[in-house]
Amino acid sequence: MTAAPRPSDLSRPNALEAYWLPFTPNRAFKKDPRIITRAEGMYYFDQNGRKVMDGASGLWCSNAGHCRPSITAAIRAQAGELDYSPSFLYGHPKVFELANRLTAMAPKGLDHAFFANSGSEACESALKIAIAYQRAIGQGTRTRLIGRERGYHGVNFGGISVGGMVNNRKQFGTLLTGVDHLPTTYNRAEQAFARGEPTWGAHLADELEKLVALHDASTIAAVIVEPMSGSGGMVPTPKGYLQKLRAICDKHSILLIFDEVITGFGRLAAPFGAERYGVVPDMITFAKGVTNGAVPMGGVLVKKEIYDAFMTGPEQTIELFHGYTYSGHPLACAAALATLDLYREEGLFENAKALERTLEEQVHSLKGEPNVVDIRNVGVASAIDLAPLDGQPGKRGYEVLQRCFHEAGVMPRLSGDTIVIAPCLIATADDVSVLIEGVRSVLRAVT
Ligand SMILES: Cc1ncc(COP(=O)(O)O)c(C=O)c1O
Repeated sequence: MTAAPRPSDLSRPNALEAYWLPFTPNRAFKKDPRIITRAEGMYYFDQNGRKVMDGASGLWCSNAGHCRPSITAAIRAQAGELDYSPSFLYGHPKVFELANRLTAMAPKGLDHAFFANSGSEACESALKIAIAYQRAIGQGTRTRLIGRERGYHGVNFGGISVGGMVNNRKQFGTLLTGVDHLPTTYNRAEQAFARGEPTWGAHLADELEKLVALHDASTIAAVIVEPMSGSGGMVPTPKGYLQKLRAICDKHSILLIFDEVITGFGRLAAPFGAERYGVVPDMITFAKGVTNGAVPMGGVLVKKEIYDAFMTGPEQTIELFHGYTYSGHPLACAAALATLDLYREEGLFENAKALERTLEEQVHSLKGEPNVVDIRNVGVASAIDLAPLDGQPGKRGYEVLQRCFHEAGVMPRLSGDTIVIAPCLIATADDVSVLIEGVRSVLRAVT
């Protein structure tokens, strides 16, 4: 019989084996691991104490930089006062306070907040609310959900069904039925090296009319899109596209959901992408930046009409049979309230406006570097597409990522052969140069 491993066994060379890393090539990682042990402001520190600049705000979540003392203190204090309280049938003060703060920040009309624990759960919640809402208003045949190619709405079954990234879908069977997709708005021939939102592509929203003609509006509950597609390779939305989508949804009484898990909380130099584009959706999903990434949290902001549609029948009846043990967790709420304070006190959404211009200037200076085939930017987000190696998609990107970390001391985000740079909103122009020049030096070294 093999003895159970003792804690001291963790010092053995294979101690990395037990952990199955998510969305990571595990074997390659374990041969050449990148271990992060500490963070502060714009920097991560590895196990040797080496500083590496965070070029992706963690995973698009640490908008105010890392280990901010006011957020840490709020979490500590909350853990000592109320560690947990049941989310079903009970409430605690901070969850109400947070719902009020978030709905006050949201576009007018989105005045209710439902809490979950991640972006994926936020998306599942929004999709379920959409279908349940249609049923509640006597439109029970409206069950179809429309997403978009290259869209990313997390990793649960609803999210991968409406999502449009083939690798996230192909391993997992037949997914949800009754789903269709709009075409991606990305077209390299028309948009390569565009700065900000491309001028080409608004007409692609009209494809929704074709889906309505195919399926009939009476079968469609909701459309879900990201105001900037993040995980699908950082694709800014063309100018005028979201306005058109809103108009078509209104014409056919289809709900419009903006997945703002990445675009919320300043990434597009506004509280939400909805505000930047002047388009009010029926629901907004959020996560990540709401707590600065310090405690998991997600949720959905919902229009009053939707909430009210459920508030019928006997008062002692549960109106929505959905929720999570950790919905509105006290630690997450404390972190979120401290985060929202910090965003306001430091004017980080305004800072993002200046940072957007700096990042745009600097990232486009990478045009002409080896293997660069496109560069995009919007808000505090940018992407550099590299030509894939023949028959080995993702290999060049992975090498760039490794060298950025080990040699250049910078941590961009990787999506296939796309290098994404999306710094924390506290970044200075000098910080942006460190990131861009770090990536440039690696691009020149990689064949
Ligand atoms: C737009 C969008 N929706 C949903 C998610 C899923 O969030 P999580 O990883 O917290 O489940 C993400 C994560 O990157 C995202 O970018």
